[in-house]
Amino acid sequence: MQANRLGGMNDVAEASAAASAQPPMIAMRGVDKHFGDLHVLRNVTLEVDRGQVVIVLGPSGSGKSTLCRTINRLESIDSGTIAIDGVELPAEGRALTRLRADVGMVFQSFNLFAHKTIIENVMLAPIKVRKLDKQSARTRAMELLERVGIADQADKYPAQLSGGQQQRVAIARALAMNPKVMLFDEPTSALDPEMVTEVLDVMTALAKEGMTMLVITHEMGFARRAGDRVLFMADGQIIEDAEPEAFFTAPTTERARDFLGKILSH
Ligand SMILES: Nc1ncnc2c1ncn2[C@@H]1O[C@H](COP(=O)(O)OP(=O)(O)OP(=O)(O)O)[C@@H](O)[C@H]1O
Ligand SMILES: [Mg+2]
Repeated sequence: MQANRLGGMNDVAEASAAASAQPPMIAMRGVDKHFGDLHVLRNVTLEVDRGQVVIVLGPSGSGKSTLCRTINRLESIDSGTIAIDGVELPAEGRALTRLRADVGMVFQSFNLFAHKTIIENVMLAPIKVRKLDKQSARTRAMELLERVGIADQADKYPAQLSGGQQQRVAIARALAMNPKVMLFDEPTSALDPEMVTEVLDVMTALAKEGMTMLVITHEMGFARRAGDRVLFMADGQIIEDAEPEAFFTAPTTERARDFLGKILSH
């Protein structure tokens, strides 16, 4: 589906020259966020290039979800700026609604509409927000359902699907808006182990197609295989920013060593 963005990139040198002239896909500068007295994001600065897959790790409460949620303004920020593809996100208003649609998000809980069929779930936002006509929305939704391997479930209701299938619908639903960025907040944490792989496979395929992704996950195999970069957060700050191999083999901070010791011994 990213053919429009990847089209013409036959020549790698040309593509990278073009990419270097473009703004980062995500640019956060000096972002602070408080919940009451709690300083949850502390002067966070982060640039993510287009096509990059960034894994976000860190202990519970370190601010990972909040970081993701500020990127599409599900949470407001107290100071700093956030730009998507060179366009700064306003705090509110119509422009925000439009820009927010550029950022797809997939949560741990799939959040599908229970009273709508699978295909209706995928068609809904393109019709409401992008003003797509029903037939085009349906055609596009079917393509996406095929892509995530559940076209045969299109007319069922969410409760009739397994958790892994529902999460794949949630991914298709987010992709239906043609986002420039996809955020994943522990997308496989609520799934039974046998369903984790089918969701990670869809995410891996998306990464290979060139989607810019920020992924909070405890799936270390996926992080190593699909990640271009690992961010490690602690107390509202990004305290490590490294390539996966470097991070997993030689984390530089005590906090990260501690964290890895705990999750890898599970
Ligand atoms: N809506 C909210 N109101 C008040 N405090 C909040 C709110 N959301 C998050 N927090 C607090 O902000 C801090 C960061 O939370 P956040 O959910 O970003 O952490 P996290 O790294 O995603 O943790 P986890 O791994 O448990 O999901 C925590 O102390 C949390 O309790
Ligand atoms: Mg979280």
